[in-house]
This record gives sequence, C-alpha cells and structure tokens, in this order.
Amino acid sequence: MKINISSRDLSYDIIYEQGALAKVDKLIDTDRKTLILTDSGVPACYAETVAAHCREAYIVTIPQGEQSKCIDNYLLILKKMLSENFTRKDCVIAVGGGVCGDLAAFAASCYMRGIAFYNIPTTVLAMVDSSIGGKTAIDFEGVKNVVGSFYQPSAVIIDTDVLKTLDERQVNAGLAEAIKMAATSDAELFEFIEECKDYKAHLGEIIRRANEIKKKVVEEDPQEKGLRKVLNFGHTVGHAIEAAAKGELLHGECVAIGMMLMCSDEVKERLGKVLEKYALPTKCTFDIKDLISSMKHDKKASDSGVSCVFVDRIGSFEFRTMSWEELASIKA
Ligand code: GLY
Repeated sequence: MKINISSRDLSYDIIYEQGALAKVDKLIDTDRKTLILTDSGVPACYAETVAAHCREAYIVTIPQGEQSKCIDNYLLILKKMLSENFTRKDCVIAVGGGVCGDLAAFAASCYMRGIAFYNIPTTVLAMVDSSIGGKTAIDFEGVKNVVGSFYQPSAVIIDTDVLKTLDERQVNAGLAEAIKMAATSDAELFEFIEECKDYKAHLGEIIRRANEIKKKVVEEDPQEKGLRKVLNFGHTVGHAIEAAAKGELLHGECVAIGMMLMCSDEVKERLGKVLEKYALPTKCTFDIKDLISSMKHDKKASDSGVSCVFVDRIGSFEFRTMSWEELASIKA
C-alpha cells in the first residue's frame, strides 16, 4: 500500500510494506553508492539488512539520543560521502528515529546541493510525523532544530515489523504525535485511539490514519507558512520542557504535557484520560515562567509573544498569538 504526497514541485510515496528492509532494492534504487545512517539504539541488523540490498553501502552509526543531532555528526556524514567520492547520483538512507532522519536528510540536502534521500523510520514517532513532510534539522548551541532546511525525501518506507523491538515507552511517546494530529484534525481517529482495546494490534492503522492527516496538511502548506503550524500543537511549551528536562523526558512525553496546557477544560478531561491510558505524562512539573526564555527560540516567536495552537473542541483548532505574560501565567 502507498500514500502519495504531492504539492507543487514535490511528489513522493510513503510505502507501507512489512519485511521491506529485506527487499529494499525492489522498492527504491539502491544500485549506487548509499550512505546509511543509523544509531546505537537501533538493532544493527536493520541497517545491515538494508546494506546487504545496496550495491555499495557505507553504514554510519551515531550514538542514540538527541545530542547526536549536532554539527559534528553532520560533518561526519559529509566527510564520509566526500572521502568515498559520492556523486550527485548517489543517495542517503536513514534507518532510525527522528534524530537519524532529520540529520541524514539535512546532510543529503546540502551535499552537492542535494542528493536523493530515503527515510526508513524505526520508531512510531518518526513513522507518524517526523519522516513525512521534508523538515530537516540539527540542533545548534543548545537550540533544537534551529539549523535546517525543507528537503523532501524521495520515498519513505514504513515497515511496522521493526516496531517489535521498540520499547513500550518509545511506542507511547510516538503515539503522542498521533493523538496530537487526531485532537486537532480528526475527531474519529481520536475516538478510535480513545476506545482502542489493543492498540498494538492497530498500530499500523493508527500510523496510516495519522499520515493521511499529515498528507493533507503538508500538501496544502509544505513550508509552514500557515496551516502546517497546526502540527505544533503542544510543541511550543513542549520543546521548552524537553530542553529543561535534559534528556529525562522523551519528545512525545513533552508534547503530551504541552498539549494539556493549550486546550479547553472539556478537551483537557478527554485528552488527559487518553494520555494516561498510554502512560504519557499530563502534568508540567516545571514553573512555566522558567521556560519562557527557551520558548523565545521558537520559530513562531516574536518580541511580543508566540503563535500557539489551541484546541477548544476535539477535531478542531485555532491559532492564538499569546504574549509572554499570558504564557507565563498559564497554570501548570
Ligand atoms: N513535525 C511537525 C511538522 O512536520 O511540521
């Protein structure tokens, strides 16, 4: 099964295929030099299986964690491609979560002004959200995603078999992004996630339905000039919590807390129950006032405040520009 993403000059497929790693050469062009970026938390056999189906593969493994989304690893990838004489016809494949995907895509977007990039996400979070839509980035000087580009993948391959080795906390943190999309844009999906008795059996369906939401958003607004900002529900405060938590909380967990601060009381009640069902945190243990300086780095921030996504009713949203004073007075 495939979902095609197309808008103006971009078009690529999200390919859903169990066992895809071992037949990657049937799905994409691997008859060329291929740099495969993976991390130490991803079972090594995933990148090795992909490499075995490429004509000439070079695996680069970075340490697991957000701290790897840095300029040093960006340079490491570029140096490897240059030393192996990669040309414009060669390609990069990410086999990992959001860190690998964002970093590999950024390096691919810069090398020779852009070479083909494929994403094979191995986490729910990356399958649901970060692998789709062409956002690439590294963190810089302690600021998340502050250096990057928009660069679309040539294809995204979703093989849910790889989720069998993902620990439950990571699965739940990824589901936070699906809950985010459902809360703003698809009341039926929200209800499905809310009612679902055996979510593991329905993970593939939840991912696909979240991808359908993201498809509509990024096709209409690929470069986040308007509608795409809806995908930042929970992220304005969430990113600041993530920085303050210094690695103690996963991205999706911070987004879960961030969403609870940006919705009506009625939504808070339903959302809180769903988040708790998936063992996601709902309370902010930081004083919001202490998070403001970090929020000022948000790409939607100005001197006077920041544009936030607010959910008054499940399945709908509004953009609200909040002053720094208003944000500081939110009750955690
Ligand atoms: N992860 C948010 C976006 O792709 O815009």
